[in-house]
Amino acid sequence: MIGVETDIVARLHQEGIFGPETSEMRLYERRLTRFFEREYVRYKDSTSVPRDYGVATDEGPVMEETEALMEQHYDEQQDFFSGFLDTQYRAYSMAYYGESPEDVRNSTATLEQAQEAKFALIAERAGIRGDEKVFNIGCGFGSLETYLLKQYPELEIVSITPSKVQLAHIRGRMQDPSDPLCSDRLTLIEGAFDQLDVNALGGRQYNLVISVAVFEQVINMRAVLEKIASLLLPGGRTFHHFITSQAAIPQFLNPDKTRIGLYFPGGRVWPHAEFAGYTDHFDTCETWFVNGLNYWRTLDEWHRRYWHSLPALYQTTFDHEQIAHWNNYFSLCKAMFAPMDGHFYGNSHYLFKLKG
Ligand SMILES: C[S@@+](CC[C@H](N)C(=O)[O-])C[C@H]1O[C@@H](n2cnc3c(N)ncnc32)[C@H](O)[C@@H]1O
Repeated sequence: MIGVETDIVARLHQEGIFGPETSEMRLYERRLTRFFEREYVRYKDSTSVPRDYGVATDEGPVMEETEALMEQHYDEQQDFFSGFLDTQYRAYSMAYYGESPEDVRNSTATLEQAQEAKFALIAERAGIRGDEKVFNIGCGFGSLETYLLKQYPELEIVSITPSKVQLAHIRGRMQDPSDPLCSDRLTLIEGAFDQLDVNALGGRQYNLVISVAVFEQVINMRAVLEKIASLLLPGGRTFHHFITSQAAIPQFLNPDKTRIGLYFPGGRVWPHAEFAGYTDHFDTCETWFVNGLNYWRTLDEWHRRYWHSLPALYQTTFDHEQIAHWNNYFSLCKAMFAPMDGHFYGNSHYLFKLKG
């Protein structure tokens, strides 16, 4: 196997494709990081909001380009995702290594432990007691479900994703009696949250509506919060985790203006303050900014695992173009989280409580 691996790596180098541990890739990532750092410094003290750049967050569809997003990203083959995600949760979102840049750098946690720490942090911040009925928007491979069903024996969860690959993965696990997802406390809905009506989502019966790493796709924040409000019982809460910047970066508000749109059609990066501005149905309990180096370190680990999974993919379906496409994806994302010690570009957490 080692011989095959060396041979494949040599062939990839000939094509100009370099792994995360090579000097060529390190140099490329340093340059890309410097580019983003210059952009962030340019906007860091700006008080402009998306509307000042002609971008409204309370108009139009809730999300857009979901089909293209599935085709170009989430419905890539299962082996690709299994090759780099953590083995315990298959979480496709930032893992949590610590609060400060030093905590992140000095952490000895594995990716698996850091993913568990992320879910523990979310559960604590969302105030989960364990007897709730939860609705999870954009469930990926069932990562939050795995954590919550194991952790809270009375909690029930209804989860939605439009991704055929994710649905097949979860349905398979729901048949395996040894898997935490094999539970009558889990209901899986196939479809897009923005496209299905409230009845198809179960109606007003939830104590908590949650999303992890999905609302980068939301364009109309007012409308998404209105829909969430219609699913919640009195006293209900909603918690969201998604990538944000401290100040608005105009080109990140339009997926066609950067390479973000290539990997995430319809995706945007909103400034931290934007989402909490929509208080029609909710009171904001608290918001947090999670240092971006957490995502940098997660991506670095994913990148390494991806590279080591390549021989198997290369021998089956992945061609050079696909290998380069996803190799560049990890580098691009790492370079976006690395600048300014993670203080400007990271993830936000929001906890809102239904009014009244
Ligand atoms: C980055 S993944 C995060 C997955 C999961 N929450 C996790 O942390 O492991 C984004 C998820 O959002 C889902 N998604 C994207 N657009 C959606 C939509 N319109 N409605 C529901 N889910 C959507 C994707 O299929 C995917 O499951």
